[in-house]
Parts: sequence; structure tokens; C-alpha cells
Amino acid sequence: MASYSCDLLIVGGGGAGLRASIAAAEARPDLDVAVVSKVYPMRSHTVAAEGGAAAVIKSTDSLEAHAYDTVSGADWLCDQDVVEAFVDEAPREMVQLEHWGCPWSREPDGTVAVRPFGGMKVSRTWFAADKTGFHMLHSLFQTSLKYKSVKRYDEWFVSRLLVDDGRCAGVVAVEIATGEVHSILAKAVILCTGGCGKIFPFTTNANIKNGDGMALAYRAGAPLKDMEFVQYHPTGLPATGILITEATRAEGGWLVNKDGYRYLQDYALGTPEPKPVHRTMELGPRDRLSQAFIKEQERGRTLEGPYGHYVNLDIRHIGETVIDKKLPFVRELCLKYANLDPVHEVIPVRPVVHYIMGGVHTDIHGATPIAGLYAAGEAACVSLNGANRLGSNSLTECLVFGARAGRAAAEYVDGAPAPGAAVEAQASDEERRLRSLMDKTDGTERIADLRSEMQSTMEESAGIYRSGDSLAAGAETLGRLRQHARHLKLEDRSRTFNTEFISALELDYMLELAEIILRSGEQRTESRGAHQRTDFPARDDDNFLAHSLAYRNDDGSVRIEYSPVTITKWPPGARVYGKQ
Ligand code: FUM
Repeated sequence: MASYSCDLLIVGGGGAGLRASIAAAEARPDLDVAVVSKVYPMRSHTVAAEGGAAAVIKSTDSLEAHAYDTVSGADWLCDQDVVEAFVDEAPREMVQLEHWGCPWSREPDGTVAVRPFGGMKVSRTWFAADKTGFHMLHSLFQTSLKYKSVKRYDEWFVSRLLVDDGRCAGVVAVEIATGEVHSILAKAVILCTGGCGKIFPFTTNANIKNGDGMALAYRAGAPLKDMEFVQYHPTGLPATGILITEATRAEGGWLVNKDGYRYLQDYALGTPEPKPVHRTMELGPRDRLSQAFIKEQERGRTLEGPYGHYVNLDIRHIGETVIDKKLPFVRELCLKYANLDPVHEVIPVRPVVHYIMGGVHTDIHGATPIAGLYAAGEAACVSLNGANRLGSNSLTECLVFGARAGRAAAEYVDGAPAPGAAVEAQASDEERRLRSLMDKTDGTERIADLRSEMQSTMEESAGIYRSGDSLAAGAETLGRLRQHARHLKLEDRSRTFNTEFISALELDYMLELAEIILRSGEQRTESRGAHQRTDFPARDDDNFLAHSLAYRNDDGSVRIEYSPVTITKWPPGARVYGKQ
């Protein structure tokens, strides 16, 4: 096994990971920084983000207003000191990104254009047409290339964190092109591996989003926070889950039921009169819109197709000129993946899993409870998003908290000892484990069968609405699936780009995280944001204005504890959207 080393290792080459690498290289040019990623960085899921990134820029807006929208959108489960730091640093990060080459769309007078977004009462979402993630990732990637101190290990899959005497000391990774197992020793590691949407059957998430960093941190002893909060985006394509951006509704699109009626006016999300009011109804927060879809389905007013119930998104009235200018990617996606032209036809959509509010528990600097281990972006839970993230806050979160984690880790590395000899034994153990899985010939269980049963179980047990019974039944099924997963049947014996082997490792991560989502949901006997319990329909601030923290017991079972939410300025209140 070859062993490499650096001062600071970043796992994940998406928005948060690249921003962290630049921040660390700028803060400490003398450090050896490395980025290890299971895909080439420009294929990270950040590239798929469409609608935009939020930050205060207009004189009609304020940091206070951005903070309040975020807190209320989060159903008060976010930490308000984190929210205040976020809104304050967001505009600087966005201007910085422009200086690095991000082509933000402009108003006719040349100033940066903003669009309204769900749950934001003021227009503050910067965008680059509807390919915002692509342009942001490009700007970050090309900027990272200028730092000679940043080395990359592309297409390496990290299977274990090394921990020496309570300090994170690097990783073990498989080089996917060759099947070789390597260790990369480091004084500090930042996890920026994104979310875990592929635990569910219908999702906007790419196949690479399997919760790798969350599982790695959890197995190394770090708690996972608020994992019961899973966000459904109201408008995904039914067959593929491909995102049809909220920007369609920001530009004036309507959600209509089978009768062509804008049904959201029936769900306390505002009214369409006297003329379409885009900042309410279709631009309510995602949790409320997804819940309204289920209610509409229960009333028999949705349509039914081969992939379940759906409603229609109508953007025809926006017109071809605006669609081609501001939503060209939506048109392209509809033509290629739904065989329809949204200039002339309605788009069938349904809620699909988009984002997990939970993740690796960190402080405001991205530090986890394990010394030398940091996390940022969707993999982390810094507690910005609480029980429901507002659309367009997450790209900015990758910038603000990626940069914070990069700076904090670079500072930590200064006084940190080099990894000790103990990690070599851990790395050898991990190599043996991986080799025995690669060479296994007596397995019986197919990866695809277990994965699809996990996904359907999660949709049934932990979907938009859950109950104690559904969550418990789901956890029981997951326990059985995890037993079966010990006997995986691997048929590809090649060492070269063995994607079956990588899928086996990803399934192992997802099964463990799925059980954590279910157990965290079972213990939260209230409804808040994206966690709606049919058996406990009310928010319960007396008992649950608290973060859940999932720990791994020695026997592999989950233990849930709670920690307080930080309130600075905004005491818990009611969430009100639009004029009722
Ligand atoms: O709909 C969208 O463009 C999604 C944006 C987001 O999740 O922030």
C-alpha cells in the first residue's frame, strides 16, 4: 500500500471543498493542501445547481431581513449566531466569486440581477441564467488551479478516516482507475462530500450523492446532527427526479392541479389576486409546498402517471424570449428528458428529495468534536438550515462555510502533531477489509436489489409525512437489509474502474445513514419544517427546540441525544407566508 502525506486534506471537490482549498492556500501558502475526490471536480454535484445563490445586494434588502427569512424558513431550528455570520459574509463571498470569473446575470443598468426565491420575502438570489452551479464551480475550479500548493487526487474513493489518539490523521482511499488502496496522511481533514439524496428513490441528486463523508465521520466517532430533516423539492421530473428549478416559479411559473387550478391558494400560502403575486403561493417554502402536494393528492386533485402522482408546472405565459434568456437549461432538460417544450406545454412535476438539512455536527468554524476533523457544505450540519433550508441558501453556504473551514483547519494544522505510527496499523486493517470484499466470491445478495428496497422503504417510512409506526417499521426493514448487505454478490473481478465495488461501499454508507434518519425521526415526537409526524402534528418548542445528535454505539446501534438551539435575536414565532 502506497502512503502519501500532506498538511491538510479536503475530501470532496465540489463548491465547499474547492472554496476550502482556496481559503487554506491563501491563509497559509506554505501548507501542502490536497483535494481527494471520487469524481473529477467539475463533475461534483454543485455543477447541477440551477436557480441561484442568496446574498443581500439591493438597497431594498437588509442583513436582518435575510437572517429573519432564514430563521423562520428553518422553523426556528437553526443556530442564530450561525445565521448572522452567514448573511454578513455572504455578499463578500459573492463579489469575490465574480472577481474569480463567475458571470452573474445583470439588470439592464448593469448591476447584479436578483430573483425572488422560495420563502425569501425579498428578491436576493443572484443567478447565472439557470446554470448557476456550473458557473460557480467553474470559477472555483479554475481559481484553485493557480495555487501550486493544492494537489489533487481525482477519482479516489475514501473508505475510512484514520484517527490517532483522538485526532484525525488522514484517510484510506481506493484509486478507482487501478483498484490500488492508498493511505493519505494529514494533520487535518475537511469533509465536503455533499448530501445523501440517493437513499431515496426520487431525487434531484446525482448518483454520487451517497453520504460518504457523513458515514465516514459517524464511524470515526463524530455525531450526525438533525438527520431527520430531509427536504423534498416540489418540482422534480417524475421519472428521473431531475430538478426543474424554483427559478421557473421565480420568473412567474404556476403550479396547477388536474383541473388547471392554482391549488396553493388553498394552503395558507397567499392568493393569486388581484394579479399574480409571485412572492407568495408558488414561492412559499419547500416544506409547505411539498406538504400541499400530498394534501392535494389526498383530495384526488393530482394527476397519475407511471411514476406516481404529479401536478403540472405551467411557464407558457412567461414567453419564449424570457425562457430562452433566463431558463434555457429548463427548456433543454424538458426537451431531452421529458420530450416536451415548456414554451408550448405544461411540465409534469412531483416532489423529490433534494437536500438533507442534517449532517456532520460542526461548530461555526466547521470543526467537529474530533480534533483535526472539519466539515462544510451539505455534508455538514453547521445549523444554518434548521428544519427546512430556503432555496438558494446552500450554494452560498458552501462559499461562506467552506472558506471558514479552510481557514480554521489551516490554523489548526500549525500546532498539530504529525500522524503517529498507530495509523499505519489502521490503514493496513482497512486495506485487508477492502481486499476481502474485492475478492469475495461467495456472496448471494445483489447491490441493486438491496438499494431499491432501501429507497422504497425510505419513501414509505420517512417521506413528506411520517408517523411513529412508519418510522419504526422502516427501521426494522433497514436492520434486515443491513444484515443481508454482509453477503453482497460482486461479479466484476476487474481492478480497473470497478464501479460495482465502489457501489458496494456506497450502499454500505447509505444503509447506515438511512437507519439514522429513521431513528432520529422516530424520537422527534413533534412536527417541524420538513419533519411532519401525522401522530404529532404540532411543533413542540418545550421539548424539541433542540438539535438531535446521533452517535454510534460500540455495538453499531444508534444513540440519539439532544443539544440546545442558539437563539440570539428572534424568539420562536409563527411562520407566515403571503397575505392570507
Ligand atoms: O430550484 C433550485 O434551483 C434549487 C436551488 C437550491 O436548492 O438552492
